[in-house]
Amino acid sequence: MSLTDISAPAGRAAIPGPATPYQGDIARYWDTEARPVNLRLGDVDGLYHHHYGIGEIDEAAVGDPEDSEREKKVIAELHRLESAQTDVLLDNLGAITAGQTLVDAGCGRGGSMVMAHQRFGARVEGVTLSAKQAEFGNRRARELGIDASVRAQVCNMLKMPFETGSVAASWNNESSMYVDLDDLFAEHSRILEVGGRYVTITGCWNPKYGQPSKWVSQINAHFECNIHSRREYLRAMADNRLVPQAVIDLTPATLPYWELRATSSLVTGIEEAFISSYKDGSFQYVLIAADRV
Ligand SMILES: C[S@@+](CC[C@H](N)C(=O)[O-])C[C@H]1O[C@@H](n2cnc3c(N)ncnc32)[C@H](O)[C@@H]1O
Repeated sequence: MSLTDISAPAGRAAIPGPATPYQGDIARYWDTEARPVNLRLGDVDGLYHHHYGIGEIDEAAVGDPEDSEREKKVIAELHRLESAQTDVLLDNLGAITAGQTLVDAGCGRGGSMVMAHQRFGARVEGVTLSAKQAEFGNRRARELGIDASVRAQVCNMLKMPFETGSVAASWNNESSMYVDLDDLFAEHSRILEVGGRYVTITGCWNPKYGQPSKWVSQINAHFECNIHSRREYLRAMADNRLVPQAVIDLTPATLPYWELRATSSLVTGIEEAFISSYKDGSFQYVLIAADRV
């Protein structure tokens, strides 16, 4: 499928792509991204995530370190924890019905979109800067026979091609650290219906620590992103008609995932920064669910 096909559905103007040089950098980053930690985990059951996992390790499923099948089992376990993360996000979307539209802002290869559709039967629209990711997600949706309801488009999530007030719920799953939060929440607030739900799962630096630690700076450099503080999230939501309904600290729940991942062959070199910053309190993994008022 060509970029034009997915970006210009019948009756609608072509979707604008990256708008700034930085967004061009991010589009290139995700176009060329093919880390085994993402692809081999997705191959387990065809749900491709670009986010981290939460929950306790099932030690019996992982087996002991001498097990010849250990690596395969660790991959399956890490993937199970990544899908568990999406489940927690979806748990916080509220009561969604099949006729409604959901938006995954920064949808990656589409794992969360597929899970959302499978759970609610709703239409799920995803946006990403990466044409490769959108093609991948749309191909998976076709393979699963759900492409009438699940679609990824190449566009900037700060200017989404959805009507004002047309969306029941929207989310950012580890994608809000690439944009200005005021701009992002203004756009979610625009597309959401009054009473709609917004959810983010994100890493954020902890204002209680003081300033971003050296670990947070390393994570920013590794992913070419700009991690915001917890305070910035809450302030930008308040300024954009998004009223937090739940703020859940997932940090303790994500540490086992990182500690298991650090023992696998899939390490990317950033594991120490995540583990150290979660442990020294400078970085947190949080879910924030907010009502559009
Ligand atoms: C870490 S990945 C997360 C992907 C997905 N949410 C998941 O959980 O698997 C970050 C995603 O944010 C997207 N992204 C970053 N900035 C964006 C922007 N301005 N507009 C649309 N997507 C953006 C990237 O293209 C990428 O798909």
